[in-house]
Parts: sequence; structure tokens; C-alpha cells
Amino acid sequence: MILLTGVTGKIGGETARQLIARGAKLRALVRDVAKAADLKAAGVERVVGDIADVDTVRRALTGIEKAFLLLPNGEQQEASEKQFTDLCVAAGVKHLVKMSSMEATATAQTPIPRAHWAVEEYIRASGLAWTMVKPNFFMQNLLASAKSIREQDKFSLPMGQGTTGMADARDIGAVCAEVLTGTGHAGKSHEITGPEVLTFSQVAERFSEVLGRKIEYVPMPMAQFRERMTGILKPWHLNAVCQLFQEIADIGLDHTTGTFRQLIGREPIPLRQFIRDHEALFRA
Ligand SMILES: NC(=O)c1ccc[n+]([C@@H]2O[C@H](COP(=O)([O-])OP(=O)(O)OC[C@H]3O[C@@H](n4cnc5c(N)ncnc54)[C@H](OP(=O)(O)O)[C@@H]3O)[C@@H](O)[C@H]2O)c1
Repeated sequence: MILLTGVTGKIGGETARQLIARGAKLRALVRDVAKAADLKAAGVERVVGDIADVDTVRRALTGIEKAFLLLPNGEQQEASEKQFTDLCVAAGVKHLVKMSSMEATATAQTPIPRAHWAVEEYIRASGLAWTMVKPNFFMQNLLASAKSIREQDKFSLPMGQGTTGMADARDIGAVCAEVLTGTGHAGKSHEITGPEVLTFSQVAERFSEVLGRKIEYVPMPMAQFRERMTGILKPWHLNAVCQLFQEIADIGLDHTTGTFRQLIGREPIPLRQFIRDHEALFRA
């Protein structure tokens, strides 16, 4: 039996869908059962509660062999993930798979990758078998710009001319599903990227090609982004996101890996395909 967290979100949702297709026996820790109604219909057991609640997590981990750990970024992420790791050890879980990020390294400079790295190190020292899934920027992040693309033929982000090797959440979910059901993944860190390194101006070119009209990328000054997101993100999270985006602007995530192809046996989804698949959201 596999325990999934984060199933009502982007990567956890894709992971669950692909595991269901593989016929895996699943349990999900969810905060809101209504959001996970489709999982119940697919035969997924659900345990309701917050990951910070020790009794709930203990119940969720009973009889679990492999667990998938995904939390959104926030001030409590590191502490909650460490606590979840301890509870996995206590429950006799054999293998813990953690959603981390490509920027999470021993020399990471900004809070989000540093927290991911701290949890990675904690898991590696726990005695559990482990696998880290470390994706690049998600293509699905661009959906937050759909309204502006649809209505103004432009999008604006504070990433300057920084680069990413952005990956589709569907591909990242496929990797998580493979890691949770396949063999040979223990002790591995899988860096997952899309097929090409792109600046955001090149991202705009891809939109223009697929949509058949000119889409422009307008770099947003970081101060403007900070002002816009104040009150939407909590202060710790906002600072951390600004630092992460500044790092993408300054340094970029400027390489791709062949890991997805090696693990899944096909090419990763290119940005053009992602745009085509969500075309209705971007059409004027
Ligand atoms: N975005 C990127 O480009 C990128 C790139 C690399 C790595 N990452 C990493 O990916 C992770 C985010 O993945 P995502 O975008 O798939 O997340 P997401 O769509 O924001 O979904 C978050 C999931 O976690 C659940 N959750 C939140 N707080 C919880 C709690 N206290 N207890 C139990 N469940 C909780 C949410 O449930 P509810 O529905 O109840 O809220 C939801 O199912 C982050 O760790 C981030 O660092 C992101």
C-alpha cells in the first residue's frame, strides 16, 4: 500500500491519476474530502487531516510500505516534512519518496531550496530507503498568466531574461508514479526537466507560434511583483519566492537532463504541446 500526500494539487494529482492507471493500491492524506471525491470513486482510501497532526499521520501510515511526501512551500514546510519522516520511521515504512526541487543543493542560497535540501539530508540520515524527485520549473506555473495572455496578449513575470528547462506536471507525475511502483530507484535523486532550456522571451515565442498571434513577455521589476503579491502570500513565503525568482533571473536553471527519457522511455512534453493542450485557456 502506498500513501500519497498532496493529491489535491498539481503533482500529487497527476501522480495519483497515473498510479490509479497502473492499478496501485493507494491511500491519500487529504485535508478536504470533497476535493478528493474522484479518488474515492477510483477506490483510493482517504484519511482526512492535516500533515501537522501526528495522530492523523500515524493512522494514515498504518500498513504503508511506500510514502510520497509533497508539501507546498511555506515557513512550516521543513518542520512538517521532518516530522512526517520521523513518523514514517516509527510506522515501519520502507521507502520515502520526496518532492524536492532541482535548485535544492548543498550550496543553495535561498530559503525554499535550502529547506528542501535540509529535508533531503534528514531523510538520507533516517535509515529509510529514499528517492528524491527534483523537478525544474513547472509549465503549469504559466497557467497563472492565462488571463493576461488571453486578454492582453502578454504576460509579465519577475524572471528577467533568466532561463528554465521547464517540465510539464504530467511528466513529473509520471516519474513519481514510476518511482513508487518500479524498482531501482532507492538512493537516487532524479532531476526532471522538459526538453529545452528557454528564456521567458522564448516562452512568449512558443505561445505566439501555437496561438497564431503575437504574445509578448514583459519582465516585471521585482519590487512590483513584491507589491502585487503582498497580502496574497504570507511574508516568509513572499520573501522566499522573490529570492527564488531573482535567482532564476540572475543565474537561471540552465540545463536539461535525459532522466525523464531514461525512466519513462519517451521524450518529455515540449512547451508547444503544453500550450496546445491548454489552448482554450489562452485563446483570445
Ligand atoms: N512550481 C514549481 O515550478 C516547482 C518546481 C520544482 C519543485 N516544486 C515543489 O513542488 C511542491 C509543490 O507542488 P505542487 O505545485 O503540486 O503543489 P500544490 O499544487 O500547491 O498542492 C499542494 C498540495 O499539498 C496539500 N497540502 C497543503 N498543506 C497541507 C497540509 N498542511 N497538510 C496536508 N496536505 C497539505 C494541498 O492540499 P489542499 O488542497 O487541502 O490545499 C495540495 O494537495 C513544492 O514543494 C515546491 O517546492 C515546485
